Amino acid sequence: MGHREEILDVLRKNHEVYISGEELAETLSISRTMIWKYVESLRQDGFVVESVTNRGYRLVSAPDLLLQDEVQRDLDTDFIGKKMFYFDEIDSTNRKARELAIDCPDGTLIIAERQSEGRGRMGKEWYSPPGGIWLSIILKPDISPEHIYRLTLVAGVAVAETLAGIGVAAQIKWPNDILINENKVCGILTEVDAEMDAVNFLIVGIGINANIELDMLPPLLGVNSTSLKSESGSDINRVELVQRLLERFEQDYGTFINGDFDSILKRWRKHSATLNRQVRIVTRFKTIEGEAVGIDHDGALVVEMEDGGLEREITGTCVHL
Ligand code: BTN
Repeated sequence: MGHREEILDVLRKNHEVYISGEELAETLSISRTMIWKYVESLRQDGFVVESVTNRGYRLVSAPDLLLQDEVQRDLDTDFIGKKMFYFDEIDSTNRKARELAIDCPDGTLIIAERQSEGRGRMGKEWYSPPGGIWLSIILKPDISPEHIYRLTLVAGVAVAETLAGIGVAAQIKWPNDILINENKVCGILTEVDAEMDAVNFLIVGIGINANIELDMLPPLLGVNSTSLKSESGSDINRVELVQRLLERFEQDYGTFINGDFDSILKRWRKHSATLNRQVRIVTRFKTIEGEAVGIDHDGALVVEMEDGGLEREITGTCVHL
């Protein structure tokens, strides 16, 4: 822990009483002027720290920001999010992750309060105003490139189950859009840098419409958007949601890396909003319509056509008809 985090930690643990600058200075073995400087930097980030002459400092409130200290405090993971980059604004966390990937460890997290050029699947734009959760995770798995599509399902299951954990019933639209009552609340964009037979790195970009007003969200192809705030009627704690998501993702990713994709698929099916539905699948090359009858071991959607024939699609945009 750095001095700033240590001060924050002491203030948090004692938020009902005043802690004198002298006591803080002694505990941390630094000068009172330094304590004052760190408190000022906390204030600049939106922490409200009261100071009363002869009594000391008291933490009144913390900002609703996904700051590194906030996210990493109480984060129970082994490697996801252990290294983290935070931005108030950035073009795209996925783009930044790609730039940083080579020199960063497995599990590095890039997070931003807003994105000016957020990227969606199929080359689309992803609107990313403040209040959302816009993050990318750099992964360096030792897997063959053909198994990447499976990972997109792992991420979808992790998000759906994290939302279930805070009492939000979410479903997965193939491959990994997260819906609440048929409206999209989260999108996932997985990007890869690979050779013919080896993956150099993967970027899993997750965008969750968290504390965003409904009228701020643009309509998407074939599905309406929603936000956690508009579904639950109040703001959610974004820091806690990010922490729980990273923890769950690390576990599910571990299950996948250890070769147990079957259990992920089982859970994907359980949360699926797509299976047994009439769907239109739009890929770069063609559009098909039929009934979604299954998901196979590669993560491909199996669609039964009108003539009874089966088609497998490994990637594309799915519209529920
Ligand atoms: C989709 O089209 O459904 C995927 C949307 C993915 C958005 C997230 S937000 C964080 C990360 N950075 C980006 O530029 N995109 C992803």
